This record gives sequence, structure tokens and C-alpha cells, in this order.
Amino acid sequence: MYASSILLSAMALAGLVAAGPVQVAERQTAPAKLRIMPLGDSITEITCWRAFVWDQLADAKLADQVQYVGSQNSNPQNCKPTTANWDQHHEGHSGWLAIDIANNYLTGWLQKTPADIVMFMLGTNDVFRGKSTNDIMAAYTKMVNIIRAANPKTKIIVDLVIPLSAGSSSGITAINAAIPAWAKGLNSTDSPIVIADCNTGFKTSDLRDGVHPSISGDRIIASRVGPLLLNFVKQSLGKTA
Ligand SMILES: *[C@@H]1O[C@H](CO)[C@@H](O)[C@H](O)[C@H]1NC(C)=O
Repeated sequence: MYASSILLSAMALAGLVAAGPVQVAERQTAPAKLRIMPLGDSITEITCWRAFVWDQLADAKLADQVQYVGSQNSNPQNCKPTTANWDQHHEGHSGWLAIDIANNYLTGWLQKTPADIVMFMLGTNDVFRGKSTNDIMAAYTKMVNIIRAANPKTKIIVDLVIPLSAGSSSGITAINAAIPAWAKGLNSTDSPIVIADCNTGFKTSDLRDGVHPSISGDRIIASRVGPLLLNFVKQSLGKTA
């Protein structure tokens, strides 16, 4: 502050300030876009539900006021939603565990690309590696704490995890059973947590390989996540949800 006011005074003396304020005013009139982070594993990275949710944002005429954020920018499945110029940023990391993301990565990701809304589905890889439900839920708690430390007003969408047909589903069932009470316990007015039920009605025939959603599975995830996201976006933009 001090240094910049000295600089401004110096510029004023030099007659350089005159053109400045107009440009600053123009920059300030363009409102910042609402930042939405799709966070997860391969079910976020190499799938099309992100694209289909973007179509919902576009249909609601909200797409120009929001952006997806994250360190990744990719469309590995070559998804072709209706909206050709959909935002392909995300924080989906194939094969990664909720436990590792919570312990080692999320703080840095949110520093690099801060978010107003975080939506996540995680835990499938933890289950594959035999992690306990308690340890996975502890990672979920740590993630919420990290998200709120980065931005105390973050709105959070937590997904019930889609079923598996490869391997045992009991770990997935256990996480999904734990999420409602867990979310209620951490809920707050400033930083609400809502649950997207991506599991009910999701059949193993909606998986393309036993783990990842086929297009029909992507449509189910988008139909459960999208309406909650639209509500949060409208609330954040001061529109009636
Ligand atoms: C959290 O609170 C909001 C209201 O602020 C409510 O809509 C939402 O359902 C609550 N979430 C849970 C998991 O109870």
C-alpha cells in the first residue's frame, strides 16, 4: 500500500496518472466468475458428467458467469456435450485416494485455483486399497477443513459414490451409509454441505468397465449433481434458487 501510493504520487508528478483511473474502472465492472472445482479421481477425470453438468449451466443461462477450476484441463473421453466451448478444467486424478488428496495435495490445489464451490466424489480407490471406512471419513473431514480454511464460505457438494461391479462393493456401501450423518455434523450456514445421491438407481449396467460410468451413468451423475450445483450457483449470484 505504502509503496504503491508513493509510486502513484511519483506518477502524478510525472503526469502519468490521467489515463489510469478509466482503465481501472473498466476492469472492476466485469464481475469475477464463480469458481467451481470438480474434485475427485478417475470418475471425475475420465468421464463425461462434468460436460453434461456444464450443459445444465448453459441451459440455465449461467455458463458465462461461472468457470470450472483446477490444475487439470482435459477431456480424455472426448465428451461432446451440447455446449462446444464447455470449461474442461477440473481436479480429477485417476487412481488417487481421498486419504492422499486430503493429506498431501488439496491445500496446494486450492491455493493455486481457489474455489467458491467444491463438488467431490472420492473413496473408490481407498476401498480398492483396503482402507477402512473410518479412515476414509476422516479424510473427508480433513478435506472439508482444508476447503474452509482456504475459503470459509465455500459451498460443498458431496456425492454418494457410484457402485462397483469389479470387486467388493461393501466398502462403497459403508461410505455411502456414513455420509449423511457426517455431512449433517459438519454442515454450516456459511459453508453448506449438500449430498448428491449418485448411487440410488445407478445400476452396474451403467458402468462401462466395472468401475467407471458409461454415458448412461454419466447422465445419472449429472442429473443428481447438476440441480444442486445450479441451486448453489443461483444463491451465490444472488438469484432466487
Ligand atoms: C445443510 O444445511 C442446508 C441449509 O443451510 C440444507 O439445505 C442441507 O440439506 C443441509 N445438509 C445436510 C447434509 O443436512
